[in-house]
Amino acid sequence: MSSTRTRGNRLRAAWVICGLTVVALVIYISPVYVQPPNQATGRRLLIKHNDFTQNKRVPNDGSEAQKVTGRSWNDPDLDLLHMEINEFLPNFKNPCWYENIYSPDIYQENGYAILSKHIRKSMVKLIQVWEYRLSKSVPARRLRCLPYFLIIGQPKCGSTDLYSKIAMHPDVVTPPIKELHWWTRNRQGKNSKDKILFQHYVDMFDEAALEIESHTIDTKEGRWDLHPLITGEGSVSTLWDNVNWWHLPENSNNSLLEPKYTNADYVHHVLPDVHLIVIMRDPTDRLYSDYLYFHKKSKSPVLFHSLAEHAVGVFRNCTKLYGIRSCVYNASVISQAKMRLHIGIYSIYLRDWLKVFARDQILFLRLEDYAEDKVSTLRRVYKFLKLGPIDDKRETVIRETPDVNKRKPVLKALGNMLPKTRRMLNKFYSVYNQQLATLLDDNRFLWNS
Ligand SMILES: *[C@@H]1O[C@H](CO)[C@@H](O)[C@H](O)[C@H]1NC(C)=O
Ligand SMILES: *[C@@H]1O[C@H](CO)[C@@H](O)[C@H](O)[C@H]1NC(C)=O
Ligand SMILES: *[C@@H]1O[C@H](CO)[C@@H](O)[C@H](O)[C@H]1NC(C)=O
Repeated sequence: MSSTRTRGNRLRAAWVICGLTVVALVIYISPVYVQPPNQATGRRLLIKHNDFTQNKRVPNDGSEAQKVTGRSWNDPDLDLLHMEINEFLPNFKNPCWYENIYSPDIYQENGYAILSKHIRKSMVKLIQVWEYRLSKSVPARRLRCLPYFLIIGQPKCGSTDLYSKIAMHPDVVTPPIKELHWWTRNRQGKNSKDKILFQHYVDMFDEAALEIESHTIDTKEGRWDLHPLITGEGSVSTLWDNVNWWHLPENSNNSLLEPKYTNADYVHHVLPDVHLIVIMRDPTDRLYSDYLYFHKKSKSPVLFHSLAEHAVGVFRNCTKLYGIRSCVYNASVISQAKMRLHIGIYSIYLRDWLKVFARDQILFLRLEDYAEDKVSTLRRVYKFLKLGPIDDKRETVIRETPDVNKRKPVLKALGNMLPKTRRMLNKFYSVYNQQLATLLDDNRFLWNS
């Protein structure tokens, strides 16, 4: 029970930090020392580093920047498709493996640590655990885990609330923050400098891994200790944000107008069996919510209309010359549009994910259904994650827990978008909604009602 409470506290803190991560899309890291390679090696090498010293932070003056060949960032750390992946342990439901550690203070290089006090605090606790283990034997072992599930999209569709309710299941443990944005932004850093390395992403699951390690079920045969706990995160940029696709080594062919490889391929390479959750809503409503949440300048339904009209114009102009896929992945088009119209073109992104993942590996949800009946949606999610059903008591707790990340009263007071804006956006999105409904064979994704 006490571990449940700790999880609860951790979660509550996590929601506070969530807001911060949305703002802190790019993280700067101060230069610190580089660990010698042998301290980080486990049974098998996770990332093939030709020369570990290349991970040294470089001054942000461009002189020591990545060597650029053509338009691509020539950086082996970014070459995710050629990264060697560990075999996961068979007696863990979650993807996990063991690594040796030789010193307890292993988080000095971790770029996430500057994000929040909360993360640093969790690392202090972990270091104590490693100290204890190293006092017993050198090297000591640490269980390393990656997410069993990812909520990959979309922003302003209820993912924060959904994630918080998933985490209420007793067999779910979470990292200190919901959105690690590693697959999209943080693994690249800013212009591929100050990037967060794969092992530092994995560090964020170390605390969850301790809990996973400590929970077992003995089978009848008594042969295996089965570890049933799972972990996951909810970076809602993962589904759509490929803004730097043309810098990545895998897409370095200069004649490409749109990405050959997207986040879907990267996630699939590292986590072929991951459980993916996508929550969407009527893209017209999503855009208004996105506008109210992210726009800094003065906001009103009238200003929203003129911005939306402009963005629709930019995309219509682009699709006169290029295919829609090329437009939604084009950084210059996105920035011209000035608002995130593209995030609602769900079908384009989902086609890329369904190219590499089986249909039943992705759970497609609608915020409209979730808002109407959270418990029945959660039952679907738990079943999808192969989690046991929850008891009545917890169900009541879930029902009675207030929504997380709701629209603020001051923004609610601005009122709805204008009817003509809704008509214009519905018209723009209708063709893509139709594609989505066809792709998922489900007319609810037409948002016709
Ligand atoms: C680059 O892409 C073009 C267009 O897709 C293709 O024809 C060409 O073979 C590619 N070149 C290489 C080196 O992969
Ligand atoms: C993106 O679109 C612009 C036009 O707005 C075009 O000049 C550019 O080549 C496109 N970039 C890519 C990578 O397709
Ligand atoms: C779309 O293209 C037309 C014709 O070139 C141009 O006049 C208009 O400004 C463009 N719209 C946007 C929003 O860029």
